[in-house]
Amino acid sequence: MINGLRILIYLSRVRESMPVKVAVYGLGPIGTLIARKVLERENLELVAAFEIDPSKIGMDVGEAISIGERIGVIVSRESDAAEILKISGADVVLHATSSHLDKIYPQIVKCVEAGADLISTSETLVNPWYRYPKLASEIDRMARENNVSIMGAGVNPGFVFDALPILMTLVCIRVDCLKVIRSLDAGKRRLSFQKKYGLALSVEEFRHKMDSGEITGHIGYGESVDLIASALGVNLTRIVEGQEPIVSAKLLKTQYFEIMPGKVSGIHGYGIGYVGEKEFIRVELIAEAGREEFEEVIIQGEPPVKWRSTGIPGDTATAAVVINLIPKVLEARSGLLRITDISLPSAFSNLKASNS
Ligand SMILES: NC(=O)c1ccc[n+]([C@@H]2O[C@H](COP(=O)([O-])OP(=O)(O)OC[C@H]3O[C@@H](n4cnc5c(N)ncnc54)[C@H](OP(=O)(O)O)[C@@H]3O)[C@@H](O)[C@H]2O)c1
Repeated sequence: MINGLRILIYLSRVRESMPVKVAVYGLGPIGTLIARKVLERENLELVAAFEIDPSKIGMDVGEAISIGERIGVIVSRESDAAEILKISGADVVLHATSSHLDKIYPQIVKCVEAGADLISTSETLVNPWYRYPKLASEIDRMARENNVSIMGAGVNPGFVFDALPILMTLVCIRVDCLKVIRSLDAGKRRLSFQKKYGLALSVEEFRHKMDSGEITGHIGYGESVDLIASALGVNLTRIVEGQEPIVSAKLLKTQYFEIMPGKVSGIHGYGIGYVGEKEFIRVELIAEAGREEFEEVIIQGEPPVKWRSTGIPGDTATAAVVINLIPKVLEARSGLLRITDISLPSAFSNLKASNS
């Protein structure tokens, strides 16, 4: 009943062409890109932004995201988020601060308490029951009680390793085994990406930093494998994940690093889901400076399916996914959602005239 009321309010807003009020939580490279893209949309209004970095707090958002003009919204301290979300009447928070659910849990609580829906780029929130079942249940309970929807989303996890192959199995009567490969040029990505993939480190430094959690590589192999299995109704016996450094044989240069021969130029990682001793799902990432970019989905079954792309640009795609999900999440039931819990999402086009 309450949820129905919320959907009615949202639909009347859309019918009356009132913009959806959006807040952005975290203005790093991804949050900045999201904020810029929100400002290009006709039916989205940026009403608040939150940061922890003191150098950004108090700035006009337009200055903080370097668009060359002020927009009249100030970057607020994240500790004030709950109060400012309520005052600004934000319908939805687009959240991009960090990856692990235990770390972002207090930030989610603030949004839930303020009654705002939340779409986050946190990799572990894409399928939170996999790594954090207790926290997931707690967030689901809180979200339902406060009549809001919470969802993790992005290009990967959130699309390439899970939503995309899940949709591709729609044409299969039988799936015997499913493999996804993503190959990308780590040298073209943002600085925080190149750092977390250990570019230019020695193998010893790489292993030490991975063990201590200082760098992470890709997060979400297990989340994606588990999400595919649950969509297909397959009971996996176990899921294994791993990441190994790729060592460069030659000198490589990126915008941020010079990688000497013998140093780390990227990561080869995987997540594998087994049924008994049989490999049923494999997601594999090769992210290295200078690599060819492509995604490949290979399904063995009836009929077999093979699909290959020329590479999806990760940062832009992440901003697009988060923004395109806004109407779906606002319409969805309350609680903690995965991409498989909503109706088929897609792009929606309503750029401001100046951007179209
Ligand atoms: N699912 C996907 O496909 C996908 C794709 C891209 C990125 N991601 C994930 O999305 C997140 C954001 O990416 P990024 O590259 O922009 O990360 P980033 O470079 O670490 O930037 C995060 C920003 O959030 C700020 N921040 C940290 N804690 C905060 C808090 N409690 N409240 C408010 N702001 C806070 C940081 O400030 P400080 O710099 O002061 O810490 C920084 O400005 C990362 O976890 C990344 O792994 C996921």
